[in-house]
Amino acid sequence: MRYFLFALTLLFTVLPKILRAQEGNQALPDPFTFNNGKKVKSVKDWERRRKEILETMTREMYGVAPGRPKNMRFEVFDLDKNALGGKVTRKQVTVHITENGREAKFDLLVYIPNSAKHPVPAIIGLNFIGNQAIHPDPGIKLTTAWVENSRMFPCAVDGKATDACRGVNASQWAVDSILARGYALVTLYREEIASDRKAQAFQTGIHPLYPGLQQREDNFGTVAAWAWALSRGLDYLETDEDIDAKRVAVFGFSRLGKAALWAGATDRRFAAVLSNESGAGGGKQFRRGVGEDINRLCTAFPHWFARSFAQYKGKDTELPFDQHFVLSLIAPRPVYLATAEDDKNSDPQGEFATARAADAVYRFLGTNGLPDGPFPALNQPLAGQIGFHIRPGGHDVKMFDWIQILNFSDLHLQK
Ligand code: GCU
Repeated sequence: MRYFLFALTLLFTVLPKILRAQEGNQALPDPFTFNNGKKVKSVKDWERRRKEILETMTREMYGVAPGRPKNMRFEVFDLDKNALGGKVTRKQVTVHITENGREAKFDLLVYIPNSAKHPVPAIIGLNFIGNQAIHPDPGIKLTTAWVENSRMFPCAVDGKATDACRGVNASQWAVDSILARGYALVTLYREEIASDRKAQAFQTGIHPLYPGLQQREDNFGTVAAWAWALSRGLDYLETDEDIDAKRVAVFGFSRLGKAALWAGATDRRFAAVLSNESGAGGGKQFRRGVGEDINRLCTAFPHWFARSFAQYKGKDTELPFDQHFVLSLIAPRPVYLATAEDDKNSDPQGEFATARAADAVYRFLGTNGLPDGPFPALNQPLAGQIGFHIRPGGHDVKMFDWIQILNFSDLHLQK
């Protein structure tokens, strides 16, 4: 009887899960099939298909972004050629944007290695707690935008950054290593662009400049807004003669990794995309049905994606795409997915499934894609045009992640 019950439990709990996961993989939408059922046969066809994918994902998931603002100005308000003990030039730049009679602004922190051959390649990424949090450098302006007072970063008072917020997130930013490898590092703060608080969503930062976009079902979601701001950062870098704007990689961790992938997907000027545990709505494949699903995403963070995405709550296997389509939009440019064993929410296997599924597009476009082989062992990075690793530990950015990300960047961005 006990065995019978055990078998029954297996039948009704585990088996459907396995079947669902496999079914999902089998039913993966094909990036090479046009909406009308025709097949992509040439690179020219792919360009048209890519446009179709971009339109679908914009409409059904991320939402419409406004494009490059006509009225945008860069104000370099800080220049120190002897920062961080003299090895680095620090610039701080305010991006001013005026649209529809309203103004928004956000700051870029730019560190440029003095010894490297200029112009240098760069890595640009959003941060969680303010620019001043990535390094204790007292020259970094404290953000004036709202800062959360979390258990991990107990530094803000009444939502305002204090000196205690300096360097508070430094462990996730390998500033010295990045600069020593010859990259400029550029960062910007998510809250200055679009609030990540549910109640304040769309009310601060850049969203009030585009009220029309919020009326639509495919509204300008917060992840898309962060991605859009990364493109504005690149607009600035194109004007900075110390930077080689043709060699700028976009980096992001977690929700900001979702934004980095979407920035790379929508803006082909980014030479590479480096994502760390971007998870659901980032590198993770929804159809595997493991970890965070669409229902959880759209319930806990309804502002991240367009309202239209909520129609897929509980219907992860019915999406007309999956996240390998995002990688397909980035192709053939290099993309890296860093994952961690205990980050179950992000489903490392699901990120690998995405990389594997996108491989065909990368190969079709003439690159080596993701190296062949099964899911890799811990700490054994794979590095083709698509790169991947899984390390022990949980949701975080560790030195190990940065070393792999920098090795991958060296492979693709250093001349
Ligand atoms: C939550 C969310 C994830 C996200 C993460 C983060 O855990 O569910 O999707 O990636 O926050 O940004 O740290």
